[in-house]
Order: sequence, then structure tokens, then C-alpha cells
Amino acid sequence: MERLQKYLSAGGVASRRKSEELILQGKVKVNGKTITDLGFKVNDKDEVLVDNVKVFKQEKEYYLLYKPEKTICSVHDEKNRTTVVDLIETKEKIFPVGRLDYDTSGLLLLTNDGEITNKLTHPSKDIEKTYYAKVDGIVTYEDINKLEKGILLDGVKTKKATAKIRKIDKRNNKSYVELTITEGRNHQVKNMFAYINHKVLKLKRIKYAFFTLENLSIGEYRKLTIKEVKQLYNYVK
Ligand code: URA
Repeated sequence: MERLQKYLSAGGVASRRKSEELILQGKVKVNGKTITDLGFKVNDKDEVLVDNVKVFKQEKEYYLLYKPEKTICSVHDEKNRTTVVDLIETKEKIFPVGRLDYDTSGLLLLTNDGEITNKLTHPSKDIEKTYYAKVDGIVTYEDINKLEKGILLDGVKTKKATAKIRKIDKRNNKSYVELTITEGRNHQVKNMFAYINHKVLKLKRIKYAFFTLENLSIGEYRKLTIKEVKQLYNYVK
């Protein structure tokens, strides 16, 4: 049994709050009866109508994609560029959890589960994301210290991070750094490196929560197992 508004949002009708409005407006019927009580619960056998149209419960789907560069992290693109959703074959209305830039590659979770998306993207949850960055110039341990301690971006210090130098290419004046952050601010990794005067030349997300790119090639995706979905729910509890 679940609350009617939760059932409606899971069925893709509207957000939970909007669904509550629909109920209060008398637009929702359960088994032929108009329901205006927000505490009303339904199960999968109940027939639920909104404006006399039947609501079908959506199957929840969860995918891990190795996002290639030059793909847009959204459901539609007005410039008609390939979106990450275009890369996945499904009839369900899935969307990306969080964002990767157009020129960033790597691990991306997509789902039609709004509840887990809200939890994973909530700032209080501190979900770990690890990036592998190729940057211009030679990164020093002083730079690493700054990245780890926090950098002032738009007047707000970034949360504690971990950074490791993976390779220094003196000949070409490039460095390779692994950076783990728990926030998801816009262009955060690029801006953190920019602050310490290293331009990010290439960026790849290699870890998201406990997921890695293991067994995925660029552009490939796989469904999460039921066990992984449960693990994910436990992770954000
Ligand atoms: N930080 C960035 O700068 N870009 C991304 O795509 C992800 C994190």
C-alpha cells in the first residue's frame, strides 16, 4: 500500500506536490470514487484515474552509462545534439541523475525513479564522485593541499575533497589528477582547477558512489541489478 500522491508521481503523472493538488482538486478517482483525502492509500490492484484517464504504474529502471564526450546531459536538446537519454534503449521516461558537462565523459546514472534521484542529488547526502582530470601545467603538492582543504568558488568554500597526483608529464607540461568531491556544483572540478591556475583539458568521472566504470566501454550502458538498487537505497538512507 502506498499513498495516492506517491502512486501518482511514480506513475509519471506529476511531482508529488502537484499530485497532491490534483487530489485536493477532486480530479483523482480510485475504483470509481473521487478521493480528496491526502492520507488515502492504494495498492497495485486499485484502478486509479486522473481526469478519467487511467494511471499505469511505471516500472522503475536504473542504468549506468559510460557517457562519451559530446553528449548532452539532459532529456531533450533544442540544438538537436545527442543526449545521454538517446543512448539508452528504453520506453520508460528516464533522466540523468545530476550532470556531466558536454565535454566530460564517464560514469552516469540514469533512472525514472524520482525518489532516489532527489536523495542522490540532495546536498546533505555527500555522494562521492571521483574524477580523473588531465590538466595543463605541473600540479604541486601545495595545489593538492588547496584542492583538498577547499576552494572559494562564488564566495562559498568547496567541501573537503581528496586529490591524488597520478602522473606528471614534464615533457608536455601536463598533469593527471584524481579528485574526489561530494558536491555537484556547476563545472565544479574545472573551476577548482582553474582557481589554482590549471586548465582542465580532459575530464572523466571514474566513480559515482560505489559504482565504477568496470566492464563498461565508452558509450556502453548496463542495468543495475536488484541488489545494486537496494544497495543504492541503503547508501542514501
Ligand atoms: N565538474 C566539472 O567541471 N564538469 C563536470 O562535468 C563534472 C564535474
